[in-house]
Amino acid sequence: MSEEQVPLARPVIGVREEELVLEALRSRRLSLGPRLGEFEAAFGAWLEADHVSALSSGTAALHLGVRAAGIEAGDEVVTSPFSFVASANSVLYEGARPVFCDIDRRTLNIDPEAAAAAVGGRTTGLLPVHIFGYPADLPAIECLAAARGLWIVEDACEALGARHHDGRAVGARGNLASFGFYANKQLTTGEGGVLVSPSEDLKERVDSERNQGRAPDMGWLDHDRLGFNYRLSDLACALGIAQLERLDEMLAARARVAGLYEEALEGIEGLELPCPDAGGDRRGWFVYVVQLPPRVKRDRAVAALRARGIDSKPYLPAIHLMSFYRERFGHRDGEFPVCEDMAARSLALPFFPELSEAHITRVAEALRQILGGPDGAF
Ligand SMILES: Cc1ncc(COP(=O)(O)O)c(C=O)c1O
Repeated sequence: MSEEQVPLARPVIGVREEELVLEALRSRRLSLGPRLGEFEAAFGAWLEADHVSALSSGTAALHLGVRAAGIEAGDEVVTSPFSFVASANSVLYEGARPVFCDIDRRTLNIDPEAAAAAVGGRTTGLLPVHIFGYPADLPAIECLAAARGLWIVEDACEALGARHHDGRAVGARGNLASFGFYANKQLTTGEGGVLVSPSEDLKERVDSERNQGRAPDMGWLDHDRLGFNYRLSDLACALGIAQLERLDEMLAARARVAGLYEEALEGIEGLELPCPDAGGDRRGWFVYVVQLPPRVKRDRAVAALRARGIDSKPYLPAIHLMSFYRERFGHRDGEFPVCEDMAARSLALPFFPELSEAHITRVAEALRQILGGPDGAF
């Protein structure tokens, strides 16, 4: 990293990653080799979950997750509009409809009461998202699912390392749950993901669907169901195995960086910081997203930060207000006021395990100047 530029994200890649990826490369077993099962077993052991399928992305995990849950064309699925677009898209892939409900202002996750109100006659499932790594209220969502006979697929793509108040890891409650391993995630395989299934039968189905619908013992050209190419290569699995060895350390480093930000940003008027852990729930730190004061023009803040050598990003936009969703479903401004307010004011700051205290101080000083500056820019 140059002295000047502070990027948004940066993966930790060391000698161990290089060693294991090279070893995989030299083995000439580049796909469906031994590292696939090794990575799945190591991930399952870390999360304390059985039935883990490694897949080519978090999106692939969501797609096979909703299929495994039994989604059908015409179904409605209640989900959060404050998410990365893939969670809602996974429902659309199957000809079903994502039905949004508003979010909780503190956690930014789906509000269980709003979710209950959004359940209708065609609703078959719930797709809660653990946004920014903060646990969604799964106990309440599970009660709703049980009362209304609905399935659950958890989008835990941003939540590796998060825990519910009962101590269980997010994604290990016995629901279908997806994780993503894109390069900015807590653990990366470059591109990749996993789906955690509640049973071995479902894992077998997912493993088959990721590999064009083939059964493990099947002949080369016999496919007994519709499938996809959602495989994760052995090179990616090797990277994942190395990353798992240092995952606890990387999660602790992210939490340390978040703590330093909290101290450094204290007292900036009107700036809202990520909610602290409460009630025993624990965030798995993924991004550091602040809400700017309502008076601030976010684009100008981004430009002013960039002029000081600091990357930042409006993150996340509300899904229902994206042009594709507006046009397809007729969504309009004002439908989900909490989500829209948060989406309009959110700004992701540089955040990764190796971010130094000096960089954090620099980001905080820049924000302090920009937001409270005498130039009257805002
Ligand atoms: C909440 C959420 N869901 C789904 C995904 C999709 O994961 P991937 O990019 O690995 O397909 C992401 C990744 O950014 C995400 O943040």
